[in-house]
Amino acid sequence: GPSAEIIDGKSIAAIIKSQVAIEIMRMKDAVGKQPCLVIVLVGERDDSHSFVHTKIKACDEVGISSSIVELHADCTEVEVLHVVSNLNKDPSVHGVIVQLPLPEHLDKEKIMDVSNPEKDVDGFHPSNMGCLAIKGREPLFVPCAAKSCIDVLLRSGIEVSGKNVVVIGRSKIVGLPVSLLLQASSHCEFCAFIHQNPQEITLEADIVITDVGVPNMVRGNWLKPGAVVIDTGTNAVKDPNREHGFHLTGDVCFEEAVKVASIITPVPGGLGPVTISTLLSNTLDSAKRAYK
Ligand code: GUN
Repeated sequence: GPSAEIIDGKSIAAIIKSQVAIEIMRMKDAVGKQPCLVIVLVGERDDSHSFVHTKIKACDEVGISSSIVELHADCTEVEVLHVVSNLNKDPSVHGVIVQLPLPEHLDKEKIMDVSNPEKDVDGFHPSNMGCLAIKGREPLFVPCAAKSCIDVLLRSGIEVSGKNVVVIGRSKIVGLPVSLLLQASSHCEFCAFIHQNPQEITLEADIVITDVGVPNMVRGNWLKPGAVVIDTGTNAVKDPNREHGFHLTGDVCFEEAVKVASIITPVPGGLGPVTISTLLSNTLDSAKRAYK
């Protein structure tokens, strides 16, 4: 039967990374500085550790200096706030991210509130998220995965204007900001932003963007034939045969969707690598502003 074009996220990521690397070489020549990203990692989740190490490796590839501040799963909120506020004050640090999810006892909103919006390369601070929501206001940073969804569509030559775009899920990491981006740019005729009974609406969609955190939830029969599918899921499924004890699965049942869609992002190797290179690009932007 027919089969969708599978988007190669790694090759898009490679293009973004090579541009970032060139700009960093120029920055080193011009001001003798390089961008620096610090990742705060709380607890022992295998998937979070693996994601953070992938980010650190990507930093190395483009010339961003980076480090991890590791905190024990049962650390106090005050300890996390202390770490973040020290990084806020350090002029050699341009980007600070707190890897999510956090252990239950930590209030992530409180932690976002103390983060410095000028170093908020994840774009999760309320002032950055707020600017994204208000027409005519520019956030300092746009959340990486959301920005990457738009970037992948553009780079894949997918015309969004006049299309029905449906976003499933409303997390601050992807669903909410990608909906705001789509609305702000008047890219789509219709932008549903749905959480319940999504299959009733996805069947009408030309473009489906998923952010649900449930492995393989979106089935082939939820999709209109020829739909474009952007799967932002990064669901760790236990797998003792793999290096870190899990494998990654998307929100979309790929085997079914690939037979219905016209274009689809796989997991792994789709949106994930693009999102990481967008993080590098945001960190570069922050350093450029610091040395302007
Ligand atoms: N966990 C899953 N995605 C992300 C992300 O983009 N940033 C952070 N900090 N944590 C995440």
